[in-house]
Amino acid sequence: MVRFRFLLAGVEGIEPSSGVLETLILPMNYTPIRMLLFYYIVRFKSSIQTKKLKLDNFFVLTLFYLTKIFINDKILVFKGGLFMNLGLKGRVVIVTGAASGIGRQIALAYAKEGATLALADINLDGLKKMKKEIKDVDVYVEKVDVTDAENCAAFVKNVVKKFKKVDVLVNNAGTAKMGDMETFPETTFRAHAELMMYAPVRLTNLCIPHFKKNGWGSVVNIASIFGKQPGGLISYDTIKAADIMITKDYSSYCAPFNVNVNSVCPGPVDTPLWHADGQLGDQLASATGMKRDEAIDWFAKANIPMGRYAKPEEIASAVVFLSSEPAHYITGVALNVDGGMVKSTL
Ligand SMILES: NC(=O)c1ccc[n+]([C@@H]2O[C@H](COP(=O)([O-])OP(=O)(O)OC[C@H]3O[C@@H](n4cnc5c(N)ncnc54)[C@H](O)[C@@H]3O)[C@@H](O)[C@H]2O)c1
Repeated sequence: MVRFRFLLAGVEGIEPSSGVLETLILPMNYTPIRMLLFYYIVRFKSSIQTKKLKLDNFFVLTLFYLTKIFINDKILVFKGGLFMNLGLKGRVVIVTGAASGIGRQIALAYAKEGATLALADINLDGLKKMKKEIKDVDVYVEKVDVTDAENCAAFVKNVVKKFKKVDVLVNNAGTAKMGDMETFPETTFRAHAELMMYAPVRLTNLCIPHFKKNGWGSVVNIASIFGKQPGGLISYDTIKAADIMITKDYSSYCAPFNVNVNSVCPGPVDTPLWHADGQLGDQLASATGMKRDEAIDWFAKANIPMGRYAKPEEIASAVVFLSSEPAHYITGVALNVDGGMVKSTL
């Protein structure tokens, strides 16, 4: 690869150290027609100006295209290092809670891998924005309340009708609320269980027949490190612990069908769940007497060895990896993505 880079750099007369790497990476995902345009417009402008096409230009283009095929299909595109081909191109991926925060970044990360997206959320405007933003892959969006069984069933049916299959399910929709242990409302506890415990079970059950038909499938449940150690959020901690167990049970059940089931356990993440009005940041602020941002920063410095919250993209990359082809043998794990916050070795 390095030799190829130098070869092209040499042919095009570009210094290898002058950003040629980025220039070459960019067109790797281009279709042949876009590559042709790129080739002529950006690199061989002078050929167009003189209206002369040189034979060696075609040679370089062919070499470039063959290398693109090789890179996309076999190993990797690289930026500062080698990456695996995640084998997600054309996979049909369902993401719940995709209109905001972690779910949004998960959807964008799958789009970058060339997956076909089926996005669910109660926030239809947010989903429509996502659909506009995502280019080059098919995106289906539907307003779905995952706490509603009929809604979920209709959604999965619509996805299969549109894309003929489902390959990956990411159960992400969720929320959290701080509250006094003794007075925490039972109705809120039950609503959280509907959203973050029953919904993943329901959607997994709806997808399993399609995974079986495919002979392949992958489920990623977004749990939390507070499912491993208490965070003082009684409903949330309890339900996220249940998610880790649900993951484990389904991983055994689904393994014979070539389906892996894992959970990702984020520590605190910079999303609207912390930063929007009335959400966890404000709740922490009123409990500590600090301002919202000050309280969040204090919490990060006091509890997270890396001293900061995760970016949602950092959670998304773990999710995408666990559902990828190279990670398919990994099943039943609860992977912390927490800047070192969990103290246990489990
Ligand atoms: N932010 C964190 O610190 C953190 C840490 C660990 C785990 N998590 C988990 O990550 C997941 C995403 O959280 P986030 O921080 O991105 O939150 P967020 O509030 O930014 O996004 C949650 C999304 O879920 C959607 N949603 C809520 N109820 C729904 C329903 N009934 N049906 C369909 N969609 C619904 C919302 O509309 C929203 O788009 C949640 O499961 C959360 O528990 C978050």
